[in-house]
Order: sequence, then C-alpha cells, then structure tokens
Amino acid sequence: MRQRLAERPGHRATTANAQAIYPFFGENGLGDGGVLIGTDIHGSAFTYDPFVLYERRIVSNPNLFVAGEVGAGKSSLIKSYLYRQALFGRVPWIADPKGEYGPLARALHVEPIRLVPGGTIRLNPVARDSGWDAQLNLLRALAAGALCRRLDPEEEGAAREALRLVNDDAKVEPTLPAIVDLLFRPRAPMANRLVTTTRALAKASRQIALGLQRLCEGDLRGMFDGPTTPGLQLDGRAVVLDLSAFYESSALGLVMTCSSAWQRGMITALHAEAEREERPARKMINVFDEAWRALAVLGVGEWLQAAFKLSRRDGVQNIVIMHRLSDLSAAGAAGSRERELAEGLLHDAQTRVIYRQVSDNVALTRELLGLTSVEADLLPELGDGVALWKVGKRGFLVQHRLSDIERLIVDTDGHMAERKRL
Ligand SMILES: Nc1ncnc2c1ncn2[C@@H]1O[C@H](COP(=O)(O)OP(=O)(O)OP(=O)(O)O)[C@@H](O)[C@H]1O
Ligand SMILES: [Mg+2]
Repeated sequence: MRQRLAERPGHRATTANAQAIYPFFGENGLGDGGVLIGTDIHGSAFTYDPFVLYERRIVSNPNLFVAGEVGAGKSSLIKSYLYRQALFGRVPWIADPKGEYGPLARALHVEPIRLVPGGTIRLNPVARDSGWDAQLNLLRALAAGALCRRLDPEEEGAAREALRLVNDDAKVEPTLPAIVDLLFRPRAPMANRLVTTTRALAKASRQIALGLQRLCEGDLRGMFDGPTTPGLQLDGRAVVLDLSAFYESSALGLVMTCSSAWQRGMITALHAEAEREERPARKMINVFDEAWRALAVLGVGEWLQAAFKLSRRDGVQNIVIMHRLSDLSAAGAAGSRERELAEGLLHDAQTRVIYRQVSDNVALTRELLGLTSVEADLLPELGDGVALWKVGKRGFLVQHRLSDIERLIVDTDGHMAERKRL
C-alpha cells in the first residue's frame, strides 16, 4: 500500500533523547516540595528547595550560584526566594553591600545591622565559636588580601601559631589585635613549634602583621578588632548586615570577607548549640550579593570554598550572586590557584541560575557550566526576570513571579531603596 505524502512514520524515543531534542520541553519541574519561584516553559508552577533536592540526591550540595547582567532580576529573585523561605522558618543571613535588603528585613520584622566606620557595632571575624579551620582559613585570606599576594610558608606558619596561642587561653576571646600583637612580638612557644627563634620569626611575620594591622587601625578601626558587640538581634527571622557605607571603598572586599566570616561563625555556633540541646537547628541561607567584590580580594576564593564545603555539614545554603562568569576567571591568571578556586565555586554550587548575558560572555558561560548550544544561544535573549536554571544536569527556563508585597520588597529602581548603580 502506498503511504500518503504528508504522513510521516511515528517514532519512539526515551525521555533522555526527548530532552536533548526539545530542551526544557522534556522536563517536568523538580517535583513538589519547596517554595514557588515562578512558571516554567509549560506555564506550570516551578518550585525549588535546596534541602529537599539534597535529600533526594538530585543535587550533591545545596548551594546556589546566580549570574546575570545589571538589572536582570538577580537580587529580586533572591529577595523573594528568601521571603518565601522565611515563611517556612528558614533564616536568611545576608551580607548586603548595596544596602538594598532593608525592606526585606523589615518585612520579616528585623532591622538591618549597619556597619559604619566609627560606628558602635563590632563583629569579631575570628571568634572561637567559628572553629579552628574556619578561623585559620579566614586569617590566611585576610592576610593575603591585605598584602595583595600569597603568604610564604614562614608567614603561613607564623599566622597558624599566633592563632593557636590566642585560642589557648580559653578565658579570653581571640581577636585580630591579639593576633597582630603576636605576629609583631612572637612568643617562645610559637618559635619552638616552627623550630626558629622569636627574633627570626618576628622578622618573617612582620609583613603580615602590618597587613592585618590595617583591619584594626585607620578607616576600618572599631569594626573587626574586638569581641562582637553584645545584644545584636540574631534570633529573629533574618539577619541583614548592611555594608553600604563601604560600597565605594576599596576596603569593601575585606569588609565583606570579615563580616561574612563573622556570619559563618555565628551560624556554626548556633548549629552547635542546637546539637548540644538535642533539637533540630533552623536551616539557614547565607547570601553573598555582589560576591565579585569580595572575590577580587586575594585569598577569599579559598575561604569561600571552605565555607561552601561546610554547608553540607551545617545544613546551610550559600548563595553567591555576581554579574558574569568572567568575574570568576578574573580572580587570577589562567592556571593560577586563585582562578582554580574561584571557578571551583561552581562545582560547589550545583544549582546555577543564569540571567541574561551579553553575547561576549556566552562562550565562557557555556564552557564553565557545560551548557548545550541551545541553552547558550538563549542567554543574550532572556528578558527581565527570566533565567536558565541548571539543577545538576537538568535545565529549566523559568519566569520568576513576584507578588504585590514582594514587588515593594524588591524594588531597587524606585524610591523604596537606595539604588547605587555601578
Ligand atoms: N520577576 C520580576 N518581575 C517584575 N519586576 C522585576 C522582576 N525581577 C526584577 N524586577 C525589577 O527589576 C529591577 C532590577 O532588579 P534587580 O535589582 O533584581 O536586578 P539585579 O540583577 O540584581 O541588578 P544588579 O546587577 O544591578 O544588582 C527591580 O527594581 C525589580 O523591580
Ligand atoms: Mg542586584
């Protein structure tokens, strides 16, 4: 029998094939559970929860990486996501370099903690509660950042032994000035452990002492150089650290690093407290908006990577927001450790949300995220509020939706919040 011309034989394919031939159409959302983000390409509700996905083994870590051009809707997504998660008892901890998370904080009935030079609030980035690894990683990052170079082995050793000594006295909280003092005037136990003399050690550690001293003197004095100010509200529905006083300052990266380290330390301490009291810890979401500013500080990649790795142990989601993936590559020369670490953050953030990218950035984005050509070609065309969500290997095109209340919380163009354009 002759087949009619217009008729084509049907074909069968596995869903894996269908997904490759018709990207996004073969996908059916991430399953139920989680907060609403918006709608996918079918017009169906798209929901997301990192902790549920982690439990279901769909992702191997809960962290989230967000990239996109200026004004594409990155911060809006995260603000409404945090607002929705907060309704379920999750606690956002935000380092806010633009001072734009105030409306979100107030919607959750907390006031932002505002750090200003000469102000009354002090945060201790090397608090003992952070734990030895976190303290040491931070100290290395701060010293490398302040000196704009990597530490040599003598300096690494000196920093480690100074930290060990300040930790030894259980009655006194470790502080940066105490560490700086030991680096200027090393004590015998430090020198003994490093098989040298105190005089030789003082010579070797003088540069990092001077570098770290900057955090205790001058424009940054009074903010990171002592025990944390008592009475800060840390048990509310969110903790927002307003760092906008430093937005124009060359010290912003260091300020972000110190304040994020303090946040991480507090989160670790709160988890430990919950464990001691044998009750479940509240799940926390730690946001680094404008993360590229901190990543530009040498040594911060290493610190952030360590923080990311701790997230699984602590049940914390880390969210890193930046403009383009080239910000990661800009952390160091090709093949350098800094660059490897910055790009490594992508592996530690298994959910990546990519908003509009200019054509020049598409090739690198495609390479670093392993996108298909269809996905990559879409990136320059995406409208405001639309993003490509890569969750593990799966891809979704999602239009983020805002409620009326959230519109007021996220409005960075209007009068609800100060907008400091780049
Ligand atoms: N899904 C959305 N629906 C409606 N309006 C939106 C949506 N997402 C963002 N907007 C609007 O777009 C403006 C810019 O958004 P947002 O501040 O999130 O951009 P951004 O990507 O964080 O920019 P920047 O890189 O400058 O930080 C906001 O004022 C917000 O009102
Ligand atoms: Mg933003």
